[in-house]
Amino acid sequence: MSDHFTFCNRRSEISGIPVKELAQEFGTPLFVYDAASIKQRLADLASFDIVRYAQKACSNIAILKLLRENGAVIDAVSAMEIKRALAAGYSVEPEAEGKPYPIVYTADIFDKEALDLIADEAPVHVNCGSMDMIWQLGERAPGRKITLRINPGFGHGHSQKTNTGGDQAKHGIWFSEVHRCLDLAAHFDLEVVGLHMHIGSGTDLDHLAKVCEAMANVALTNPFDITTISCGGGLPIPYKNGEEYIDLKEYHRLWQTTMDHLESKFGHPIHLEIEPGRYLLAESCCLLSQIRAVKKQGENDFYLVDAGFNDLVRPIMYGAYHPISIASGDDTPLSEKEKDVIIGGPLCESGDIFTQEEGGFVSKRRLPVADVGDYLILEKTGAYGSVMSSNYNSKPFAAEILISEGKPKLIRKRQTFEQLIENEIF
Ligand code: LLP
Repeated sequence: MSDHFTFCNRRSEISGIPVKELAQEFGTPLFVYDAASIKQRLADLASFDIVRYAQKACSNIAILKLLRENGAVIDAVSAMEIKRALAAGYSVEPEAEGKPYPIVYTADIFDKEALDLIADEAPVHVNCGSMDMIWQLGERAPGRKITLRINPGFGHGHSQKTNTGGDQAKHGIWFSEVHRCLDLAAHFDLEVVGLHMHIGSGTDLDHLAKVCEAMANVALTNPFDITTISCGGGLPIPYKNGEEYIDLKEYHRLWQTTMDHLESKFGHPIHLEIEPGRYLLAESCCLLSQIRAVKKQGENDFYLVDAGFNDLVRPIMYGAYHPISIASGDDTPLSEKEKDVIIGGPLCESGDIFTQEEGGFVSKRRLPVADVGDYLILEKTGAYGSVMSSNYNSKPFAAEILISEGKPKLIRKRQTFEQLIENEIF
């Protein structure tokens, strides 16, 4: 993989299949995932002892299965995510003594549903992000092993909304409260066997590097014996042309130094877990849409497509940037000409614009001159794409396909009107 991301704003195929063929067979909007990309990203992280996929990034069961078959374990943040992992073939118990927990529930609270499930039916390992969680689990299921999610007092993300550390973040146990948690855990005979820190999503190497020291401080200044350390997720990926890929070797090297130090202090091996979502999934997927109107509003050119923020909320929510390309809708090649355009969706809301910055400021994108019927592809939408979609304006959830060895397979049908209204009572 080269160090920099380079991008072309026109394409004719996705994973070797003509765009037009995919659109005609499966319809638009359509999430198109590539299995080889997901496997490659997982392989990139092989130097970490355990890769725990943060399924909140994309929880389609076919994707979870693919990751399971390729050796990843799973992070779940809700009762339903635990059930998805079970449906994908993950088990509750480790395969054998010393093997990783197949599923870990990481959260700052238990809702009733999650507590009931974990206490009784599916006793998965719990990563506690609050004292109250320790208390509630201790009362219902004393004697379990647990992990503590620590807020190290600082955080960083691609947006303030994805920064999960520091005193404005609700996440994790404040680093100086750890000794109180240990007392509480001991009261319920809960054994703290792991430490976890996740400072934010889409952060950078400088901030990630600071976690090593913070983790070592917590591990060495509190009286416990741990067997697992999780450095969380947060690995960034390049979204813009020219942006760099993170230096994974350097990141692992930093952790290895910390782990060597801790292992010599603790006198036994400690497993290093990493918990990525975005890194594994983001680049594997394109959201394929069709241009349905081409307009000029004063000086501004617009392409309006059939996908909206109901399908991909990241631009309106964070001002997130996704690469965009165009594919011809028929057999004639695209025009050589380009223009600066604003890309909007079908929703009855002004903010339904894919080219916008944080704060809602509309921006433009240099794209090939295109027409109604051509396809517009929102790229790198595999992480926090389909999972954050909604039924706003009664738009159905888009279909999803997974391309593996050149063959596209439907992994989620487009939602129907009947499914959309099935829980309504009238
Ligand atoms: N572990 C924990 C405890 C997390 O809270 C998260 C993300 C991850 C791992 C995975 O982080 P990743 O490797 O994907 O950066 N919706 C936002 C991202 C929110 C992430 C929330 N937690 C977005 O679209 O950018």
